Amino acid sequence: MIVTLTLNPSLDRTIEIGSLTRGAVIRAAAAHLDPGGKGVNVSRALLANQVRSCAVVPFGGDEGRRLVSLLQAEGIDMITVPVAGPTRSNVTLAEPDGTVTKINEPGTALSAEELDTVAEAVLSAATSADWVVASGSLPPGVPLDVYAGLCRRFSGAGINVAIDTSGPALLAAVAETPALVKPNREELSEATGLTIVSLGDAIEAAEILRARGASTVLASLGADGAVLLQDDQIWYGEGPVAEPRSTVGAGDAMLAGFLAAGARGEAALVEALAWATAAVGLPGSRMPSPGDIRRNHVRVTRADPTLSLRSGG
Ligand SMILES: Nc1ncnc2c1ncn2[C@@H]1O[C@H](COP(=O)(O)OP(=O)(O)OP(=O)(O)O)[C@@H](O)[C@H]1O
Ligand SMILES: [Mg+2]
Repeated sequence: MIVTLTLNPSLDRTIEIGSLTRGAVIRAAAAHLDPGGKGVNVSRALLANQVRSCAVVPFGGDEGRRLVSLLQAEGIDMITVPVAGPTRSNVTLAEPDGTVTKINEPGTALSAEELDTVAEAVLSAATSADWVVASGSLPPGVPLDVYAGLCRRFSGAGINVAIDTSGPALLAAVAETPALVKPNREELSEATGLTIVSLGDAIEAAEILRARGASTVLASLGADGAVLLQDDQIWYGEGPVAEPRSTVGAGDAMLAGFLAAGARGEAALVEALAWATAAVGLPGSRMPSPGDIRRNHVRVTRADPTLSLRSGG
């Protein structure tokens, strides 16, 4: 069983448009409302693939109630924690070439008492868990070492902790020896100060995170695939996406696939890439179901450090 924690969930509206022009009136081709938040996405992907999880979700206000009802309608197992501040709304503008523009609200602060209640919910769910996954940004006012505290607490109890976040929260967590971190290219660069233009740069940055405490690093590199550093091995893989529709949540699908496959070695990297690339082919932050996932399209190869990365970063 996999417990996910989303401290800063959201109601996500994805609007598909032809192209984004500042200052123009733009006609939307389609719009979707989804429950949002990185841990929530991991739980949605796991549910779609019949893997048990429990999502711990603080919620507040009308948006929070809407979020909980969307998650209930999807059949997500959850522990919901009512909080005073309203849940945030995020907007994503998705263009046909795969470009996404996101407008994310910061979220509302959680009080120290609310944070304690959330931590207790994670603890109670985690008694039967193999993994606790702490994903996403922190709402304002939450201490930057909150994920680090979870790592300390659960690693000591023999429960694996996976961290998918950025900035100081990622750095603090890494120092508490999480079993797994899943940075993207930008997060790798920010955490290490390295400019990442080649696969070798990404590997060097991932090695730094391992040296600072992370056992396994699964670094996602957008359209360039992903690299896995585990034990004394390095695997690189990528998968094609025939028709990219939205990369939102691709990293969350990747993490879910990796954990669902047992989080070890080449087979788990293949699963991670198969789930991630399937998510890119789906609109909004829709998570892939078994029928969307094509493992045989994924290629895992020896990591060539001279490979130039195409995009972003
Ligand atoms: N444009 C793309 N084409 C093909 N595959 C992609 C593309 N974008 C993402 N992916 C796949 O999804 C995985 C995760 O993407 P990315 O590195 O962008 O994660 P992320 O930034 O953490 O995403 P998010 O946080 O929005 O979920 C990549 O490793 C890759 O397999
Ligand atoms: Mg991510």
